[in-house]
Amino acid sequence: MQMETNFLIPFFTIFIQLMATHVKPQIIESQLNFPTCPATDPALNYRPVIGIVSHPGDGASGRLNNDSDVSYIAASYVKFAEMAGARVIPIIYTEPPEIINQKLNLVNGIIFTGGWSKKGLYFEVVKGIFEKVLEKNDAGEHFPLLAICLGFELLTMIISKDNNILEEFSASHQASTVQFVENIKFDGTVFGSFIMCEGAYGNSNFDNRQLAMNCFLQVSTCAAKEDEYTLSCDAKSSCAFHMIGFSFPFVALPFLYIIFGQYKIYHLFSLLEFGISPEKLQANNDLCGFFRVLTTSVDKKNKVYVSSVQAQHYPVTALQWHPEKNVFEWGSSQIPHTEDAIQVTQHVANYFVSEARKSSNNKPATSKVLDNLIYNYSPSYAGKVRGSFEEVYLFTPRPTLSSL
Ligand SMILES: *[C@@H]1O[C@H](CO)[C@@H](O)[C@H](O)[C@H]1NC(C)=O
Repeated sequence: MQMETNFLIPFFTIFIQLMATHVKPQIIESQLNFPTCPATDPALNYRPVIGIVSHPGDGASGRLNNDSDVSYIAASYVKFAEMAGARVIPIIYTEPPEIINQKLNLVNGIIFTGGWSKKGLYFEVVKGIFEKVLEKNDAGEHFPLLAICLGFELLTMIISKDNNILEEFSASHQASTVQFVENIKFDGTVFGSFIMCEGAYGNSNFDNRQLAMNCFLQVSTCAAKEDEYTLSCDAKSSCAFHMIGFSFPFVALPFLYIIFGQYKIYHLFSLLEFGISPEKLQANNDLCGFFRVLTTSVDKKNKVYVSSVQAQHYPVTALQWHPEKNVFEWGSSQIPHTEDAIQVTQHVANYFVSEARKSSNNKPATSKVLDNLIYNYSPSYAGKVRGSFEEVYLFTPRPTLSSL
């Protein structure tokens, strides 16, 4: 038996080789019928790195670390950037300015996080980084900034050069909705992937619900045509997504603009205590010249605040709400975790990182990037000690890393 089997092996080998040569052309033929992957765009940087600025404190009211100059980044912001295909370098605000500047040259975009600190070193560092963001863009490098909650407030103060411009609102721990400003082009903004119906905006006849629905249906068909293979599924769900939430009526705001629609299923989680009303923003020449208002929202006392803005001439987006919490934070029962809330997070993360891919800064030394990536640090489980976040990265004033 043993000998017979050995004797057969060469025949099997020849048979398999024959099969292989025979089968090969068929494989190639069927591959040809498959859609090919789109070519990579040489203008884009597919290895984007996002800098996230740390905030004073430990993010857990001293339960993790009481040092007066400890700072933290909630891991939800890190994961938010990671989920859209970026890596993160923490910009530790207590580090010397030279180090911060060198880190800015390693990244392709910046996130200013939520928090409470509005003065002192933290304010100055955020202001300095914001100025650098504008400088880089002015010099021709696409360098996006996403400012969330406190970040929005700080930008409002910095741009208006008025540290008392913010007003008090009661939107703390409120899951809310956004109302879109009429006559705004949402293309290229953070809402571009949510709202695909350009025709609807700026159309004065756009005044009935049916039209809105038809329009969104049309758009989802277009989207499906454009890229059948990746979007057919997506288009269906986003169609439902758009239609369910659409409601009227119009609300007129004095001399500003008309809010024309509201997406009820837009889950945004706001920790807002300070903000700015549309009237106040419009009355400030600096703010008005820098930003255009994309959405407003209503606080618990029915007071309207500006909830999303986009810079007119820079890739700078500021949100008074927390896109990152829907997916990653569990500390408050108010944080929505429904599927469409999760999609909101995913849309915003994808938008921001796609902006970062346009950054031409793709030449930093690999070793410097690796030395500074967030992977050099370990997060602490703050949720268990009733911190504001599930996980936080803590930074001591003199980090042992940063071999810049
Ligand atoms: C910080 O200080 C508070 C109040 O003194 C104390 O309860 C807490 O245990 C301290 N936290 C740490 C991490 O030492």
